[in-house]
Amino acid sequence: MTQVVTPPLPLSSYLKEQTTSTHESLDRRIMALAPFSSGERFACFLRMQLRLHYATAPLYQNPALQALLPGLAERSRLQAIILDCADFDITAEQQEADRSAGCAAQNASTIGAIGWLYTHEGSTLGAAFLLKHAREQLGLSETFGARHLVGHSDGRGLHWREFKQALDALNLSAAERDQAVAGARDAFAFVRASVEELMADNQPAAAS
Ligand code: HEM
Repeated sequence: MTQVVTPPLPLSSYLKEQTTSTHESLDRRIMALAPFSSGERFACFLRMQLRLHYATAPLYQNPALQALLPGLAERSRLQAIILDCADFDITAEQQEADRSAGCAAQNASTIGAIGWLYTHEGSTLGAAFLLKHAREQLGLSETFGARHLVGHSDGRGLHWREFKQALDALNLSAAERDQAVAGARDAFAFVRASVEELMADNQPAAAS
């Protein structure tokens, strides 16, 4: 009898499959905390994003990861979020606290780091939606407060598809694929903890 072997999902699809429910819960939580309801609330959102950018900054600069994922260094948006934080008068002490928390969270292996990068790069898709809210509710723009949410000049979708193609071209074993998923989940968990710490204080009554 011929045994039918189902080919494994491409890595990008596997990462998505394994993190979809975590993403949905995070997305709902962030929106429940009303980040666009005032400048003060948006500043808390910016600090959460700053922590994530600092946590992943060393990965974008890592030569081993750059060799695996072409154009990686150019994808970093750390300078954009730092400028956004300056627009909202986030103090040097607060920025240092976020840098320190971000750096302390990062101890991923090269394969785990691929998962972290999947989570961070994927968030640029949802950023289209967040940018729309930031524009409409707070009057922010690509030159004030919302620089880090702006899509790539080649197009947000194309830029993301190129990243997914690079992920899917990696030749990982089953164990390594699971290591990448663990990295992606660690990144989501770090973001969730940062949301609770930075955004859940002083929340509006409707948030849950
Ligand atoms: C309120 C906040 C958020 C909203 C509303 C949101 C919404 C979305 C939307 C609409 C997509 C695109 C789905 C598609 O076109 O296929 C997406 C993709 C994604 N988002 Fe979010 N997102 C939010 C926050 C985040 C955060 C904080 C992270 C992680 C740091 C994240 C990680 C991802 C990832 C990894 C993907 C790609 C999924 C895939 O593989 O296709 N999102 N998000």
